[in-house]
Amino acid sequence: MPEEPWTILKLLHWTTDYFKKNKVAEPRASAEVLLAHLLSRDRLFLYLNYDRPMEAEELATFRTFVRRRLAGEPNQYITGTQEFWSLPFRVNPDVLIPRPETEVLLETVLEFLGSPETEIRLLDLGTGSGAIAVSLAREFDLIKIVATDSSKAAVKLAQENALLNQVDSKIHFVCADMFSAFSSVSWKFAVVATNPPYVSQAEFSELPREIRDYEPRYALDGGPDGLAAIKHIIREAPAVLSQGGALIMEIGAHQGESVSGLVKASQHYESYRIIKDYSGLDRVLFALKKE
Ligand SMILES: C[S@@+](CC[C@H](N)C(=O)[O-])C[C@H]1O[C@@H](n2cnc3c(N)ncnc32)[C@H](O)[C@@H]1O
Repeated sequence: MPEEPWTILKLLHWTTDYFKKNKVAEPRASAEVLLAHLLSRDRLFLYLNYDRPMEAEELATFRTFVRRRLAGEPNQYITGTQEFWSLPFRVNPDVLIPRPETEVLLETVLEFLGSPETEIRLLDLGTGSGAIAVSLAREFDLIKIVATDSSKAAVKLAQENALLNQVDSKIHFVCADMFSAFSSVSWKFAVVATNPPYVSQAEFSELPREIRDYEPRYALDGGPDGLAAIKHIIREAPAVLSQGGALIMEIGAHQGESVSGLVKASQHYESYRIIKDYSGLDRVLFALKKE
């Protein structure tokens, strides 16, 4: 008797079971995302076409996806995409996969800027995929953003994401270490928005292998105590902030107290607060530059 063909439904069942047995997180969702990507369709297409037979070539490619996922590679690097702020972003192992927590930073920027009537200048330091710069460029008509990263590959991808989301004319990309691009130019920004590397060395070794082995270490590693980049930014941001400007920075879940101490000690800020995320964890520093 001929073997029954592999249909979408049969493949989803098989893959979900296989992922479950091998302790892959969210097995069904993961299988659906990979299969939808393979077929260049959305997940709804799968539900509406459960009986569609799979072709031999499709099955062979899908097998490579399953193998990569099983080795711990995140879905987003296999599909090359991640949605953030309801926008599409291309991602690859040169950049951090944008996280939903970073939307708290965006909300803080939106609240601070309100509805500006004149052009605002904003610096996104450590732009990675361009998630912050691109999303904010979509939110404001009158905005000029400078987005920097020390990784050339990240800057290249962020530029592609700006084009993809049609905001390339609003963002100027620079490959530079920290604030070095501004040492000889006196640019001033209303906001420095940044999600720096803030994972401590102890935390790094405890990260799930999907993150530790696949996401770029330079995007995560904040030195022995996780505060190396944060300290640098708190110290240097006032020089590029305009009067009444704000440093709005993502921080680690338990860094609120130490970050508050650093801001207080710097004496460059008039006021500051730590904003929690939806899980009640420390997530964003908002610090207003002293007049
Ligand atoms: C946590 S990731 C954030 C990426 C992106 N902004 C986001 O929110 O998804 C930190 C980024 O900072 C960049 N970075 C690390 N050290 C840097 C430095 N010294 N100067 C500039 N950028 C740096 C990394 O390349 C990485 O893209």
